[in-house]
Parts: sequence; structure tokens; C-alpha cells
Amino acid sequence: MHPSSTDLPAIAGGEPAKRTPFGREKRYGEEELQQLREALEQGSLFYAHGNKVKTLEKRFAEMNGVPYAVACSSGTAAIHAALIAVGISPGDEVITSPITDMGSVIPILYQGAVPVFADLHPHSYTLLPESVEARITSRTRAVLAVHLWGNACDLQALRDICRRHNLWLIEDCAQAFGCRYQGEPIGTVGDIGCFSLNEFKHISCGDGGIVITRDERLAPRLRLATDKCYNREPGVTQRNATFLANNYRMTELQGAVAVAQLEKLESIVARRRRWCEALSENLRGLSGITLPRPTPGCEPSWWFYMLRVVPELLGADADTFADALRAEGLPVGAHYIGQCVYEYPIFTNHSAFERGTHAYSARLYSKGLCPSAEAILATCVILSINEAYTDTDLEETAHAIRRVVRWFRSKNPS
Ligand SMILES: Cc1ncc(COP(=O)(O)O)c(C=O)c1O
Repeated sequence: MHPSSTDLPAIAGGEPAKRTPFGREKRYGEEELQQLREALEQGSLFYAHGNKVKTLEKRFAEMNGVPYAVACSSGTAAIHAALIAVGISPGDEVITSPITDMGSVIPILYQGAVPVFADLHPHSYTLLPESVEARITSRTRAVLAVHLWGNACDLQALRDICRRHNLWLIEDCAQAFGCRYQGEPIGTVGDIGCFSLNEFKHISCGDGGIVITRDERLAPRLRLATDKCYNREPGVTQRNATFLANNYRMTELQGAVAVAQLEKLESIVARRRRWCEALSENLRGLSGITLPRPTPGCEPSWWFYMLRVVPELLGADADTFADALRAEGLPVGAHYIGQCVYEYPIFTNHSAFERGTHAYSARLYSKGLCPSAEAILATCVILSINEAYTDTDLEETAHAIRRVVRWFRSKNPS
């Protein structure tokens, strides 16, 4: 357990393990430019008049083996459209994950509904089905399953629970493009799958979103929910809005970039998967840290790589460990989003609106609601992943983590 003197970590005076810059590649290129040129030459950037958003929707639906896809302006908009489509209304409860982006919960609040947070699996970081079931009440209408880091929730269990309790199952696939669950594309197990095309996701058009469904009743509602409840079908001239819907339209410019990006998705996911699986293989069995554990039956698409420290075994907390890895040259950070979403002031102070009553104000949100999720955030360290990472990056990253773990362990012979 004693590291050799030639393998001192950088924090103890050794040479940083990362000797070469991480692999990088240009995100957007000629393919996107060509699509953009074609979009501009159409003479209209409005989705209903052009061809790019339509092409994106058609290809994405085909790729996922579903009949319907509707593009929109963001992942948040995608989730909002899904909630509107299934009829989430004031006072309803929607169960979701406490470790996620605000984009998952903003739409719940905008519908006047109450976000209810269920606890997470300690190593897959996704919803614990038993915790979801325990939080169901007569007001629960839907489960919003967040597939964090590109790893699916236990969808089989969640689908069974939703069927038994007559709930909608909506999948938040913002971090999970290209993930598969029991051989099926992510987003196709629940009633609606919601994706984000923001700048930081597997594929991007700057900002954008897309929803998929097999349900012919939901498809037209999804379209209306992204476009002010206006029906743009050819021949329909009357504006006859029947429910509340925002302008969440995707423009032809975003559609054009997204069409080009979609072509790259398979390769992006394959490279990330290969690299991250090899890293896990290399680190397996290392005492003092725990590795991200894919949900059984899932092939994750690895949006990031999040491990946890076991401070009693490692002899270091997440901050100290992350500092040591950064000294080695690794792009890491401790604690991911810092605290569970329900610990934000918008929840603890019920400050979504200045005045008036909102159903969520009657619910108490405070630390302690989801102990496992809180423990995950207290001990996690996140490594940024890029599909351009090379084999050298892999070797140097694994070496950095191993040498730092060994060094802390050698000083803490528990
Ligand atoms: C899990 C999750 N859900 C929803 C969103 C919202 O997506 P967008 O930023 O496109 O609105 C994000 C974005 O970070 C996310 O990570």
C-alpha cells in the first residue's frame, strides 16, 4: 500500500500524471455550416414553413423507433411540453429526482404543481423505485425520471409502479442521448421522452430540445404545447387556443445545426462509452472510492463520470481528493450541484412567486428529505468527459486517480 517514491502525487511534489493536453475536437464544422446555409436559403426560418426542424423530427423519431418527435427551444421546454401534454394541473404532484438541473422542476412549478422528491440509489444516482412508491399520494399524477449522467433509471420498476398507480411516466433524457435500456433507446419506455440540445449536451444546437412519444393522443398536444396552442397544420386558419402553452418553438437555424449534429451522435456516444468503461475497468477494486454503477440492463452514454470517495477508507474528503486530482491535471470538481434541488431558496422559502398561493407552498422542503442523495453530493467527485479523449488520456487519468488514492490510503492505513 506504499506508493513508490517515483510515483508521488503532484500534491506531494511529484510530476503531474497528466503530461499531455486532453483530446479535443471542434464541435461544429462544415456539416453544420452546410445545413445552416440551406436553412437560410429557404427564405424562412419558421419551423412550420421550412424543412430543417421537420427533418430533425423525422430522423430523431426514426432513430428511436417511435412515430412522433416534436422539437422545441430547450430541454426545460421539452419537459414543460410533456407535462402540459399529459395534463399536469395546479395542485397535482409530480415525483422526481433531487439531483438534477432546475430545468426538470421549473416546468412542474409553472404548471402550479408540486415537485415531490424521491431518494436515489447510492451508486447509480438514479431514482429508487421504493422511494418513489412511498411518496405517491392521491394527488400524484406523474413520475419524471431523470436519467442522470446518461444512465437510465430502473425503468422497468418505475413503469410497473406507474401502471399500478395510474401515473404518467415521463423520461428526462437531457443527459442521456444515446443511452439504451434493455436494448431500447432511452425515452421510449415511458409515455414521453424529453431531450436537451443545449451547448453542454452530447449533441447541441446552442439551445434546443426535442420530445418523443408513441402515443397518438399525446403527439398533437405536444406540438400545440410548444407553439402557443396554435394549430399550424396546412389548411387550418382559425386560431383557437384551448389550453395554456408557451412559445417554445425551435427555429430553422437550430434545426439545421441539430440535423448535422444528429449524424455525429452514434460516434460520440460510442467513444464516450468505450473510454468510460475502460476507465471503470482500470479503477475497479480500488479501495477508498466507489465507481459509478450503471443500472442493470442499461448501456449508459456517459455524460460525465462521477465517482464517490469513502472518507473513512480513503482518509480524505471529496474536496481534498478533488484538489489532489486537479493538481494531477484532471478536470474534476467536488459535489456536482452542491446541494439537493429542494435545498435551494426557491423551495425552502417558497419564493417562486412574489405573491399569491401556489400549491407547493404547503409542502415543507428542507435538508434531510433524501438522505442518500445528500450523501452522494457530499462525497462525489465529477470528471468531465469528452468523446475526443484518447488512450493516452485514459492511461494518464487512471494513473492519476490510482496514485492519489494509494497515497491517501498509505497515510490512512485503516
Ligand atoms: C437532467 C436535466 N434536465 C433538464 C435540463 C434542462 O435542459 P435545458 O438547459 O436545455 O433547458 C438539463 C440541462 O442541464 C438537465 O441536465
